[in-house]
Amino acid sequence: MGGTPALVAIVSAMREEIGGLRSHVDAARTERHAGRDFHLGRLHGVPCVLVLSGVGKVAAAATTAMLLDRFGARAVVFTGTAGGLGPSVGVGDVVVASALLQHDLDASPLFPRWEVPLTGRSRFEPHPGLSDLLAAASADALADLDAWCPPALRHDLALGALRVHRGLVVSGDRFVATRAEGETLRAALPDALAVEMEGAALAQVCHDYGVPFAVLRSISDRADDAATTDFLQFVSGYASELTHEVLRRALPGLAGRALAAQGVARGEA
Ligand code: ADE
Repeated sequence: MGGTPALVAIVSAMREEIGGLRSHVDAARTERHAGRDFHLGRLHGVPCVLVLSGVGKVAAAATTAMLLDRFGARAVVFTGTAGGLGPSVGVGDVVVASALLQHDLDASPLFPRWEVPLTGRSRFEPHPGLSDLLAAASADALADLDAWCPPALRHDLALGALRVHRGLVVSGDRFVATRAEGETLRAALPDALAVEMEGAALAQVCHDYGVPFAVLRSISDRADDAATTDFLQFVSGYASELTHEVLRRALPGLAGRALAAQGVARGEA
């Protein structure tokens, strides 16, 4: 197994978030399972499988289990958009998760709020090495914004000075589209930087399988009353290009780290 190429899985919820990537996959073939198209091939030289999970935690969990069981993915990267919760997390910024939690999971009083029952944990940590690579590639991509983001789009999205953040990302089966709901989340989970609908589910499944993963989100809105309009404008123009720019820079390193992480897990040198 030591010489087997690392198969890196790249997952997004929606076509707009990953659409641009497919045209860059060489020697692609597509397998269809459970209503999803899994595109296999090389992306920037790295053996990859690309798939749209669909929206929400169940869709993400089912897709992740298929990636690990059927396709033998050695590392999983989720890329997509999120609503900004942290005070300094603005539209166009990138958040690389350092922990993920399901904000709508509550089996209290039987278990503490947010804890996944019978696991003793509410937060699931991505692989630090994969996350470091994504954060560095994101910083590079944002520094090079002029090369891939047309000035008109930059103007329309009112993008300011863009930053990469690392921290807690929370997931739930709700698109947070009112200021009141955003504020409730901010009050309950003050260290949360961003909210989305899949990451914590993927994290829990990868944790169960012992497979390294990372979650990268570009901020499409501030999880407030303007969230819906901001989101639609953002995904169609910015999110998928950003993903491509980040992965182009990070993929070779991700594949190496994936192999190393799995070797360590199996006790190889
Ligand atoms: N993904 C992008 N924006 C979001 C929001 N406001 N709520 C949940 N998921 C999102």
